[in-house]
Amino acid sequence: MSKIRTAIAVGVALVIGVGFTIGVVAQDKAAAVKERQDTMKQQAGDLKYIADFAKGVSGDQATAVQKAEDLHSLSAKLPTLFPAGTSNADLPDVKTYAKPNIWTDQDNFKASIAKLPELEQGLVDAVKAGEKPKILAAIGNLGKNGCGACHSTYRAKMPQQ
Ligand code: HEC
Repeated sequence: MSKIRTAIAVGVALVIGVGFTIGVVAQDKAAAVKERQDTMKQQAGDLKYIADFAKGVSGDQATAVQKAEDLHSLSAKLPTLFPAGTSNADLPDVKTYAKPNIWTDQDNFKASIAKLPELEQGLVDAVKAGEKPKILAAIGNLGKNGCGACHSTYRAKMPQQ
């Protein structure tokens, strides 16, 4: 009798344990998506500051240099932001726009991340030189061939677009 009770207790513990593990993993994945989106927003914020400075809307050169350097350093973080199992197909209950082809097309996806540092270095140089037309050209180049090139292939259409 007590053996059976023990067996049941162990069985229940296992079931609860497994359920708990799945819950934690789902939370980790949602947190990974949030970190990814926050990092993307930070990149966009850096770019906006620099663009406003270059257009003469607001901002100063010293801060624009800091933002360009921040942007440049963030590219090293991007490869860590796409853990397996965090696409919009894997996580129907989480608002993510990361398409499954990120994980089935890894070589090309990694190549699109690898293009960023050079494009961003071009922007850092232009901001340091303080030449506004060059800054705007570098933003355009990065936006089209860096951010935009990846988004058009690997990001699902977002509602505000
Ligand atoms: C290698 C691919 C890749 C590159 C390069 C990339 N992004 Fe993204 N970006 C994504 C993906 C995928 C998402 C969707 C993430 C999600 O919803 O989980 C995204 C989302 C975003 C978002 C929306 C975030 C939100 O949820 O509000 C912004 C803004 C953004 N990216 C800006 C940028 C900027 C600016 C750059 C260039 C400096 C850039 N991204 C470079 C893949 C990329």
